[in-house]
Amino acid sequence: MRLYRNLGLLLLAPLLAQAEDGSQGWLRYAPITGATGYANLPSQVVVLGNTPTDQAAANELQRGLASMLGRTFTVSHETHADASAIVIANLAVLNKAFTVTGDKLPPESYTLGEKTVGKTHRYLVIGADARGELYGVFHLLALVGAGQPLPTKPTTESPSSPIRWVNQWDNLDGTIERGYAGRSIFYDNGHVRNDLSRVSDYGRLLASVGINGVTVNNVNSDLRTLEPEMILEFARIADQLRPWGVRMSLSIDLSSPQVVGHLPTFDPVDPTVIAWWQSKVDEIYKAIPDFGGFVIKADSEGRVGPSQYHRTPAEAANAVARALKPHGGVVLYRGFVYNNHLDYNDLKADRARAGYDNFRALDGKFESNVVIQVKNGPIDFQVREPASPLFGALQHTSQAIEFQITQEYLGQQRHMVFLIPMWKETLDTDMRAQNRSTPVKEIVEGKSFQQPLGGFVGVANVGLDANWMHHPMAMANLYGFGRLAWNPDLTTDQILDTWTRLTWGNNPTVVSTIDELQRHSWHVYEQYTGNLGIGTLTNILGYHFGPGIESAERNGWGQWFRADANGIGMDRTVATGTGYIGQYPPELAKVYEDVNTCPDDLLLFMHHVPYTHVLHDGKTVVQYVYDAHYEGAATAQTYSTRWQTLKGLVDDDRYNETLKLFTYQAGHAIVWRDAVTRWFQKESSIPDKQGRVGNYPDRIEAEDMTAEGYTPIEVKPWETASNSKAVVCNQPTGCTLTTTLNKPAGTYNIVVQYFDYWSGKSHFTLDLNGKPIGNWIADDTLPPARAENQPNGDTSTRITFPNITLKPGDTLTLHGIPDNTEPAPVDYIEITEK
Ligand code: GCU
Repeated sequence: MRLYRNLGLLLLAPLLAQAEDGSQGWLRYAPITGATGYANLPSQVVVLGNTPTDQAAANELQRGLASMLGRTFTVSHETHADASAIVIANLAVLNKAFTVTGDKLPPESYTLGEKTVGKTHRYLVIGADARGELYGVFHLLALVGAGQPLPTKPTTESPSSPIRWVNQWDNLDGTIERGYAGRSIFYDNGHVRNDLSRVSDYGRLLASVGINGVTVNNVNSDLRTLEPEMILEFARIADQLRPWGVRMSLSIDLSSPQVVGHLPTFDPVDPTVIAWWQSKVDEIYKAIPDFGGFVIKADSEGRVGPSQYHRTPAEAANAVARALKPHGGVVLYRGFVYNNHLDYNDLKADRARAGYDNFRALDGKFESNVVIQVKNGPIDFQVREPASPLFGALQHTSQAIEFQITQEYLGQQRHMVFLIPMWKETLDTDMRAQNRSTPVKEIVEGKSFQQPLGGFVGVANVGLDANWMHHPMAMANLYGFGRLAWNPDLTTDQILDTWTRLTWGNNPTVVSTIDELQRHSWHVYEQYTGNLGIGTLTNILGYHFGPGIESAERNGWGQWFRADANGIGMDRTVATGTGYIGQYPPELAKVYEDVNTCPDDLLLFMHHVPYTHVLHDGKTVVQYVYDAHYEGAATAQTYSTRWQTLKGLVDDDRYNETLKLFTYQAGHAIVWRDAVTRWFQKESSIPDKQGRVGNYPDRIEAEDMTAEGYTPIEVKPWETASNSKAVVCNQPTGCTLTTTLNKPAGTYNIVVQYFDYWSGKSHFTLDLNGKPIGNWIADDTLPPARAENQPNGDTSTRITFPNITLKPGDTLTLHGIPDNTEPAPVDYIEITEK
């Protein structure tokens, strides 16, 4: 009997266990328990149009409602006058009888509402066009998924602006520049993939939050991009995206007329070059009738550009834009143009000035289908930057704001950093152009200066990882980007809460725990990486991941903070500095220019101050830096324990994946904390008032342990290892570190801080009095792009063995066996009270 019962359970198990790999993102359509509010929804979905987008909308509605509400929905193209139905239609095909708000809706908008005549109940999803219909369907599904009521009275939603694009920095070989979630969903081996099913899934996710364009190749564009055979390959990507109302666009290199067209020049005003662009664009539209346009990176970071012919960005952009205009295509010309060979010794040199200096004089000189794509801040996606002054300066030119969803400088999807609050801070910055209210969001919407185009671009860089972005929490940034692009007035909490519900379910404990974890995660990351506007203190010459503080100084890249023994920060004032602050409209410039009114969180971006400068909260700069790093790293330690309260309340797969990442983040936050605080202490010669920095009584440095085979090395940069040293093992059979403990008897956590290069899989074993406590493999292979074969702030990581009973005189032994070029490196062991 018992046997049979177990067998029955076993047979049922696969049906019950919903494997959740994150591939559905926020479109999981999990069953809604107690969903009484939707009983009224008719079971027949009637879609009046028959384009692929109409069909996608109807199928999505059927799929989503059936899955969430647990009943059957049918799709048809016809309805009887007296049959109840959910009707999906757009203005072009709409029978007058169904009209709910009159005949006009702005492009891509939709109206949801109810209409009951006698016993006939209709729920209407009316789009201005097929895209609007699709957006209406996704909105309806999101309301059901989050357990919110459906509007009964006609309710219309319209997008903020026409450009709501993501950029993918994918290379044709299948790698992704600054991608942290596996290889490209589009390319492999120099070609578009045969299997593009992930592309269609991506289009679906994007459409669900109102994104209407994808630029599918790296801004550092492959020179083959505009070859005729490549265009035909790209057309296959466009085919996958089309049903979702997502237009494909391409990043191009301005030398294409020469490289692809074999012309002697690519001078944008040369008539043969102009003619080449025209025929190339015609060729593209033959293959891709709904092609979106081009993104152009020129005269920047080694890309060629119009400067080669002493032409302006306007002349270059216009030559291409004129070819696109008859087809309805646009040019997004990037404002990210700067000189990366600046002279550090020139106190007036300032990379932050570059956008304004290069584009301000061209305001009004661009064709109406050119949009200047401006990064949110004037440097490069640092943990905190002011809004780029270019936003206020271009008043006769359409602009789009470029955000980075992929977390290049922000933890590379191994740290949880919810970016919506950061983006909102920029969008809400009131530039006070023309001495009136001109928040960045209204400028890029085209409202402030009545521009025809404008909008939002997010560098997404999703990859082949099942869950798209590697960290399950990072998808909130893609979701939130789309929601903000649709409506930048949404609050952080509105966006976050809906994402959490759709992604993790409506259980109140789950929702409040995840919302709380994410809500302040940007600030927490800022606390332990780079405070007061100094920038993310990462190794800017490497991966942009771990700490590497001085890499930003004394080179041509211009991400300087000009630290010396007396003070720190870039003097960007008009009075004594680079004059950058003068690029802002006067009212805002006044706030930044005065060290007393400049917000503390931008202080070191705008001013050079002594370490003893007192902030508004009464702390000195240096003590603030110490405290913030300790506070931020301490908060990061709480993520995994808070997450553990959700065990069993969310699916095991995503639970375990997230726990692993939080555990990693906790360790890496300590690497950051120690590196930055030790560096500040050394540079300023001012000790931490609380005595924490440089003082680690629970640590046993690896180089102080008794070694067999292990040899000490200096770690570079020095601040990325405890005591600036590590030990490495160069014997294939392995090496040993031994130490005698003198902790009072009790229960402790034992931490091993080691280095995990991406090139090898060293084996470690930890023994207590000859008995194993644990063993592990240093098998980290992320980020995948390049191999980092050194002990430093990128590779430093830790493992913790909790609840170990110790007594004085115990012997702790660590065995390491190297692998490939990874010499089983160790930094320290730390024994902390439970
Ligand atoms: C950053 C990033 C580059 C990228 C560049 C850009 O500098 O590190 O990989 O190409 O931005 O936005 O063009």
